[in-house]
Amino acid sequence: MALPNMENGDRRERLPPRLSEAGDMGLPDGRAGRVRPVDHLATEVMIRCLRDAVLDLDTKGRVRLWSSGAYRLFGYSDAEAMGRPLAELVAVGDAGVGRELAGLLAAAEWPQPERTINSPLRRKDGTLFSGEVTLSSYTASHHRRVMVVVRDHGECRALEVALEASLERERLAMEAYILAIGRMVEARDPYTAGHQQRTARLAKSVALHMGMGAKRAEGIFLGAAVHDIGKIDVPAEILARPTALRSGEREIVQRHPTVGYNIIKDINFPWPVADIVLQHHEHLDGSGYPQGLKGSEITLEARIVVVADVVEAMSSHRPYRPARTMAEALAEINDHRGTYYDPKVVDSCTRLIEQGGNKLEMVAQ
Ligand SMILES: [Fe+2]
Repeated sequence: MALPNMENGDRRERLPPRLSEAGDMGLPDGRAGRVRPVDHLATEVMIRCLRDAVLDLDTKGRVRLWSSGAYRLFGYSDAEAMGRPLAELVAVGDAGVGRELAGLLAAAEWPQPERTINSPLRRKDGTLFSGEVTLSSYTASHHRRVMVVVRDHGECRALEVALEASLERERLAMEAYILAIGRMVEARDPYTAGHQQRTARLAKSVALHMGMGAKRAEGIFLGAAVHDIGKIDVPAEILARPTALRSGEREIVQRHPTVGYNIIKDINFPWPVADIVLQHHEHLDGSGYPQGLKGSEITLEARIVVVADVVEAMSSHRPYRPARTMAEALAEINDHRGTYYDPKVVDSCTRLIEQGGNKLEMVAQ
């Protein structure tokens, strides 16, 4: 069987014995008294290839197996580490892994529960680092054995930072994608151009004022930024009509939450963007549309966007009416506080706008 090359050379001839000699070695399979047989050679190859430091120790805590990850982390080659006490190689003073390992090997009962500790550790070149050490005890050929896995905290943190950066890039790309979708519908309807953006900024401010976390508030911003995307299905002449809508036209316009939902429902956003689009004309008392949802059936995100939508729309000019004052917009949401609109959202929005001198641009972030 071909084995992978290791940093310290081809060691095929040195693999067996060690784990491979453990004739009765096995792992519990979850049923009392049953032991699952282990493919020793495959296990040993796997351990040697792992990037984590994986070590196998004998009854006296001496190294029986030293993975390539251990070589990379500690700097000792397989030959240098083999047969030497682990504590002598990597422990710093009597604390940490040295004391933990000594206590484990001296235990009266065997095997012991797995234990994980944070420990100072020493490399071959004398440099110190902090590592997470997991000690697992088992029995092989009637001898006590200890499997040790070591992770470098510094490496873990570097991986976390790289992952966070990757997620942030993904989030920014998704945000740009959503905003582009929002601009698509606004391009057809000059009277509502900017409405979704202003609604989004107000909704996000209200969410933050209500104590929602930044990530959830970001989802509300993005949902509000496309909440009217379904209007792409409404003929431009209806959107731009300077008079009140006729009954048939009203039905066409009222389809837009469902149309919008169907456009984006299959995009796997990490926020309830599709629900915000679908529910942004629902009222607490069930008098809204398209589903007539009531109370908590409406997601909190949508309950915030509903209020921001009304305030922004009323305070902006429309073909069929001039802009209303902010006082009128606030009166509207307060008149329907608890019937159409979530009281906490209304209170938060009202307080924010009043604090901003009744100017939307002073509130919306
Ligand atoms: Fe709408």
